Amino acid sequence: MVNNLNYYLKQAREKKYALGHFNFATADVLRGIVEASKDAGAPAVMVGTSEGESSFVGLKEAVALVKIIREEYDFPVFLNADHFKSFEKCKEAIDAGYDSVIADLSKKTFADNVAETKSVVEYAKSVNPDILVEGELGYLKGSSQVQTKVEITPDDFTKPEEAKEFIEKTGVNQLATVFGNIHGIVTEQEEKLDIEHFKKVVAAVPDVFYVLHGASGLLDDDVRAAIKAGVTNVHFNTELRVAYTEGIHKTFHDKPNETTPYKYLKPGVDEMKKVVAQKIKLFMGE
Ligand code: G3H
Ligand code: ZN
Repeated sequence: MVNNLNYYLKQAREKKYALGHFNFATADVLRGIVEASKDAGAPAVMVGTSEGESSFVGLKEAVALVKIIREEYDFPVFLNADHFKSFEKCKEAIDAGYDSVIADLSKKTFADNVAETKSVVEYAKSVNPDILVEGELGYLKGSSQVQTKVEITPDDFTKPEEAKEFIEKTGVNQLATVFGNIHGIVTEQEEKLDIEHFKKVVAAVPDVFYVLHGASGLLDDDVRAAIKAGVTNVHFNTELRVAYTEGIHKTFHDKPNETTPYKYLKPGVDEMKKVVAQKIKLFMGE
């Protein structure tokens, strides 16, 4: 690959669009994400595995799959360790060959978050300066599934003055920011971003790349406004999981005796690809 992830994020910031970040745990979903992203006109795509997803697919297997798919599709695909919750887990992903890691240590005290995230940055840069590290500040609640409610208050939001200190002390490249976003889809509550709050964070720290996590369930207008305000990377997982699962359910509804995996999985991949294509167009401002 000629250009690194930093290059594509810079391009996104300059031209005010965002790169998509989509999660996978199986080879069919990975390929579907890449095909749909390329076909929809994305300049590049980030694919991620959470700790759970990576223990299912395997860290080294994920790296090998992404390497092959980049070559096969001649398309920039970057592999991210998504919400890895300790220095040791981040190190495992870096050693396996991931392109970026999220040191998700925001449940720790600010001082511990700073210290451990800084160690991840130092380790990543010692292995390969192209590896990007994302830190997380604020309390990003919920998980990537359909839930009824997830209480969130402004107290959970990323604080601008803390963000400034955090970036200065850790040297992270990307920051996961909380301003009304939660992981997952909630059925009995409206998900709403506080864009004005996010603008205050960006004003305090203009130089870092901003990441919007938990984009499933948000209105397109909120995602658009976040990109306009400075987000260069948007994470979707739950909406893809739901689409994939619905496609598979439909097969079994229509053909309860189907036992050939590539036949019952394909409708899931096809449904998921429609979601990815729609999101890419949203990120590119179409
Ligand atoms: O890191 C992954 C994401 O932030 C996914 O969030 O499941 O709400 O789309 P989501
Ligand atoms: Zn996330």
